[in-house]
Amino acid sequence: MVQKIHSYKKYKEDYQESVEDPGKFWGKIAESFLWRKKWDTVLESDMANADVKWFQGGKLNITENCLDRHLEKNGNKTAIIWEPNNPDEESRYITYRQLYVKVSRFANVLKNNGVKKGDRVCLYMPMIPELSIAMLACARIGAIHSIVFAGFSSTALSSRINDSQCKLLITANEVYRGTKPINLKAVCDEALENTPSIEKVIVYRRTVEPTQMKEGRDSFWFEELQKIENFECEAEEMDAEDPLFILYTSGSTGKPKGMVHSTGGYMVGSTYSFQNVFQYQKDDIYWCTADIGWITGHSYIIYGPLAAGATTVMFEGVPSYPDYGRFWEIVEKLKVTHFYTAPTAIRALAKHPLSLVEKYDLSSLKVLGSVGEPINEEAWHWYNDNIGKGTCPIVDTWWQTETGAIMISPLAGVTPLRPTFATMPLPGVQPALMDEHGKEITESPAEGRLAMKAPWPSIARTIYGDHQRYKDTYFSAYSGMYFTGDGAYRDAMGNYRITGRVDDVVIVSGHNLGTAPIENAVDEHDAVVECAVVGFPHDIKGNALYAYVTKYDEVRISDDELRVEINKLIASSIGAIAKLDKIQFVSGLPKTRSGKIMRRILRKIASNDTSNLGDTSTLLNPEVVEEIMEKSLV
Ligand code: WTA
Repeated sequence: MVQKIHSYKKYKEDYQESVEDPGKFWGKIAESFLWRKKWDTVLESDMANADVKWFQGGKLNITENCLDRHLEKNGNKTAIIWEPNNPDEESRYITYRQLYVKVSRFANVLKNNGVKKGDRVCLYMPMIPELSIAMLACARIGAIHSIVFAGFSSTALSSRINDSQCKLLITANEVYRGTKPINLKAVCDEALENTPSIEKVIVYRRTVEPTQMKEGRDSFWFEELQKIENFECEAEEMDAEDPLFILYTSGSTGKPKGMVHSTGGYMVGSTYSFQNVFQYQKDDIYWCTADIGWITGHSYIIYGPLAAGATTVMFEGVPSYPDYGRFWEIVEKLKVTHFYTAPTAIRALAKHPLSLVEKYDLSSLKVLGSVGEPINEEAWHWYNDNIGKGTCPIVDTWWQTETGAIMISPLAGVTPLRPTFATMPLPGVQPALMDEHGKEITESPAEGRLAMKAPWPSIARTIYGDHQRYKDTYFSAYSGMYFTGDGAYRDAMGNYRITGRVDDVVIVSGHNLGTAPIENAVDEHDAVVECAVVGFPHDIKGNALYAYVTKYDEVRISDDELRVEINKLIASSIGAIAKLDKIQFVSGLPKTRSGKIMRRILRKIASNDTSNLGDTSTLLNPEVVEEIMEKSLV
């Protein structure tokens, strides 16, 4: 098992060593995993060319680390506790041995369906144990899973399937989120109208509703299992650098980026950070409320916790059902020790009466976590006072889909906290603040753009099918460094506080949304000439979306009807998560003389921060700024 850092002194020593001799440092950590063959070199890196390789020559299978190696001593330990959407339905407890059997058996199903090492398999599934089983089964046979969050629309699903040419799709017929049924299979059927690479679809029957199945293409999960007699499946031997999964994240341009994660480095990074940030101990019950469709779920519901032999909770439902006490009811019921959620959820819960918290016994809690967006002061204190009762360290974990693992965060109970600060980098992480001229700012306190000076094991290796874009997006801003897209402030002690995105990505309710694809969806409406979408601060969601839209003169429907139609277009091309909160119709968008929309000004107006708009005289059409401000919906 990975050695845990137990003291602030040890943290400082390890940090020092990780900077001075990364090879030695990570080599030692990697030794604690199960490798079929040890690596030849720990690190080979050429950041300027976006070329990073860890543990080259090493051979392994991540599922042997997540499952097989626990069997002897911990086979009967609970690996996954599943909590259903409906509190009256029974929870499921799955031991490591049971999970091992289920994964092996399903891995044989995949093989039976012609899936081979290197093939891409798309998972569009609800938060049920079968999602974890399918995911690990892919890893078992060396297939690359591409999990698409089940809130995405059919168009978003098909574009992701096509981008990575998935061969097989795994889904469920239907799922309830709160009281709302969601027919996932129907979304898949729509997506599958233009996904020629998909040969087969396996459908898990989550509800008893009748399900449309297409002869020759679709089959049910249970039918597929029945065809399998062999409950053992030898794990495929993988190179450390072989891809483990693809996960899409939004970018500044329309097309989502399929981030590719490696097998060896990702395993080491996700597990090491899990152990150290959360300080998980043997009998702890760890719960991360994220959806597995996002990176947080990949690294901190499945891979990190399972490789560390932890008990990890998976929750199918929503924080508001049957009421806003649900999270706390589950904490009490399962005696959760570690609770990891997003600020947006905390803010939503804090709006409801405290009696919903006080009703439950939260004394099992030891560590609280936050992820996905900056946590504001008020939410931090509410979380600390009412949930942690002032005794649970809050780990505010900053990281990204691209980083694979937590990068900047306190280590629970080990390193000092500072509210609203992600605080210090983990060992192996070397942040830099960059000024507007692209120079590193070495003094503190200071504010700048956040970059990384050195590679870490779980860094994404490429964007699927487009290495040039990977290089351009992350390695071209600052020579030899990785650029995060975030801004940050560093205090005199060296604590980092993330201030938010500095590009055209907006984090809404903890979800990364690129404004470009949303604008594309709005532009599709016949009545729309053009539009600009920006983020603005929102009480609960952190940020919400504001669109400025110019429309054609002869529009037959009312503004309100047009708003509804625009949001429908967004829901169908991306998903409901990307809907606009405000849509203002304007006679023109502020543009530079070269025709670029000045989003900076629009962002300020949307944020009701118009005291200093900067110089607008260089605009092609300064008069529209006045008009936009006058009719602003803020
Ligand atoms: C933001 C989620 C402030 C940040 C793991 C980053 C945060 C983006 C924090 C990545 C945090 C994540 N404090 N901001 N603790 N954690 N972010 O890829 O802007 O969904 O770049 O990964 O979320 O979002 P992603």
